[in-house]
Amino acid sequence: MTDQEYNAKIEEQWRYIEELKLLVSERSTLLGRPLVSSVVTFGCQMNARDSEKLRGILDAAGFRDTENEDEADLVIYNTCTVRDNADQHVYGRLGHLNAVRKKRPSMIIGLCGCMMQEDHVVAKIKKSYPFVNLMFGTHNLYAFPELLVRTLSEDKRVIDIRQETKIFPESLPVRRKHFFKSGVNIMYGCNNFCSYCIVPYVRGREISRAPEEILDEVRRLVADGCVEIMLLGQNVNSYGKTLPEKTSFAELLREVCKIEGLQRLRFMTSHPKDLSDELIEVMAENPIICPHMHLPVQSGSDEILKKMNRHYDRAKYLDTVRKLREAIPDISFTTDIIVGFPGETEEDFEDTLSLIREVGFDSAFTFIYSKRKGTPAAEMENQVPEEVVKRRFKRLLDEVKVTAEERCARFTGRIMDVLIEEENREPGLVTGRIGHNIVVHLPGDASMIGKIIPVHLKECKGFYYFGEPVRE
Ligand code: 5AD
Ligand code: SF4
Repeated sequence: MTDQEYNAKIEEQWRYIEELKLLVSERSTLLGRPLVSSVVTFGCQMNARDSEKLRGILDAAGFRDTENEDEADLVIYNTCTVRDNADQHVYGRLGHLNAVRKKRPSMIIGLCGCMMQEDHVVAKIKKSYPFVNLMFGTHNLYAFPELLVRTLSEDKRVIDIRQETKIFPESLPVRRKHFFKSGVNIMYGCNNFCSYCIVPYVRGREISRAPEEILDEVRRLVADGCVEIMLLGQNVNSYGKTLPEKTSFAELLREVCKIEGLQRLRFMTSHPKDLSDELIEVMAENPIICPHMHLPVQSGSDEILKKMNRHYDRAKYLDTVRKLREAIPDISFTTDIIVGFPGETEEDFEDTLSLIREVGFDSAFTFIYSKRKGTPAAEMENQVPEEVVKRRFKRLLDEVKVTAEERCARFTGRIMDVLIEEENREPGLVTGRIGHNIVVHLPGDASMIGKIIPVHLKECKGFYYFGEPVRE
């Protein structure tokens, strides 16, 4: 596709937004009130960012936003399918929405995101949830204006699922959840094919965005008040490999760090197999890159790592951790761990427990292995019995808790910069994060949101701190 053709496709969507405005305004005149929409996000940061794009388009079309989907005229579920419980959650909520919709038949229900890229899911929705009006997948988010025009103006269900991302929605409207921070997609898809993971099948092959486009987007966000940016990709460490002019993630970080006004830079997710010495160097040299590394290990057993197709072993992982600690002494590590992968023995599991102790993670996302149709692991023998997995999962949680509590306490008594993110549910308190990504609660009010202030970290409460702002 030439640049001209690409731009024409995007312009076409802007015209659909104009058409949407008319449709929305006609309907709200009839109803005598504004139309209300609700976008509900399931899953990861990528989906959260996609939802901001959906909301931006809905805002531009004239919808008001609500968090209560039961009162919305249009509900969009942005789905996740990484584990089966995410799927079940969506089916459960659809059942509930159906009951609401029976009382308000004009309600429009749309589904998008990763679940929609699976044929068996689409077939099930068509058969068992016929009231769903709109379905589209991960590859055509940019076409949301057009698909919504069709849903509002045609009297039949609209389904548009594609197999490849050719057009990105970056130049369409977006509404950020937070005015002071934002995610920025630097790449889409994944080429790794870890044997348990459905992501490469539903998000497609890895594609990196051009560095100039990313830098432009970050510049615009900073000019618009963002102090913190999180660069997003399934495996940011392989950024650039698919671009015509070879570059690297470390190189990209170097350039982003030069942007005037940016105060904090984060990224997610790093794959241990591709983490380069150059990246460690760039992190050590640039204080605006937060001293936090989310580095999913998945298992501490070499045997299991091999079966997972992760392309590193325990020793390599520990070596990377050591190098990062040498370069950035206080750095915090977080991780993802799967328990109950097919063939996992008691010994393999104990290797995972001992790795947690050895690394000293600040926190860990722990998951029970979930069989995903179409992945190699789903066909493996020796699936671990449920009761065994449940017992191991409990032991895993206990280990993570003990280790993380010990580790998080290391900043007690220090004064550190906290980016205030929100008011706490507890009146008179606000909540923010230090660069190491540890949460801090402190006395304050809404006027502090979006500011970075020095805070005395007085008391560690396990995973978080209570602090006191330092008056200068
Ligand atoms: N079962 C359990 N956890 C999974 N993850 C990915 N696929 C599965 C699965 N089939 C976890 C991994 C990954 C995180 C995003 O989700 O730990 O890092
Ligand atoms: Fe899934 Fe592995 Fe890709 Fe992460 S790197 S999205 S776990 S296949």
